[in-house]
Amino acid sequence: MIEYLLQQMKDYKSGKRANSRAKRMKRNLSDVNENEMTAIAEWLSTLK
Ligand code: HEM
Repeated sequence: MIEYLLQQMKDYKSGKRANSRAKRMKRNLSDVNENEMTAIAEWLSTLK
């Protein structure tokens, strides 16, 4: 789960995951570095 979430965020940021909605996520992630994305993914994984 952590790995999946981190990969999606990386792919939005790099433009690899691109569709009409992904533009929003690309903007959201433009100022977030990889350490921060890892922390976000770890936190998201704790939610049920
Ligand atoms: C802390 C802020 C945010 C985080 C960590 C985050 C994280 C994510 C992740 C991990 C996904 C992929 C979900 C999946 O593959 O199941 C996603 C998708 C998405 N997010 Fe965010 N998000 C954030 C804020 C936002 C905001 C503010 C918006 C809208 C303005 C937004 C709009 C979307 C949309 C539209 C998608 C689906 C895009 C698609 O179809 O590929 N997100 N987000």
